[in-house]
Amino acid sequence: MTITVHPNHPDVTEEMWDKIDTIIQEYKTIPGSVISVLRLSQNNVGYLPTPLIDYVAVGMGLPSSQVFGVATFYSLFSLKPKGRHIIKACTGTACYVKGIKEVMSHIANKYGIKEGDTMEDRRFTLEGVRCLGACGLAPVMIVSEDIHGNLKPDEVVNILEDYK
Ligand code: FES
Repeated sequence: MTITVHPNHPDVTEEMWDKIDTIIQEYKTIPGSVISVLRLSQNNVGYLPTPLIDYVAVGMGLPSSQVFGVATFYSLFSLKPKGRHIIKACTGTACYVKGIKEVMSHIANKYGIKEGDTMEDRRFTLEGVRCLGACGLAPVMIVSEDIHGNLKPDEVVNILEDYK
């Protein structure tokens, strides 16, 4: 019987490592399944810390560089932790014209995050995204699953204060 020693990482609990072991066991003999293993691992942990990518590589019998290559190539993977609430601010043309940049700078001033950043306490991640298909409501952002339109820069903080 082999005893698996899990790496130490503050964001990955023993229970999560056990689940990742199960995922690796399930997929390791299936060719080309590294994307599935990374996706399921990310679903468990929330993102892909470096030791987790190394662990998947060893478990799948693949070179680390190959698994890193996959993890960094696809935008669905995140190598950085994300906030509890993801703010998706639309930077498409209609929203741009209607002032999404001012909305984002109010968010930056209040919470200290610019596009691509996550707050240290992981409350918010701010992402800029392409047209959300709600141009009639420009400027628009989605917070968690909620859509907020016709945003006024000086009201955006009031909206966000409801998300703890
Ligand atoms: S440009 Fe923002 S919703 Fe279309």
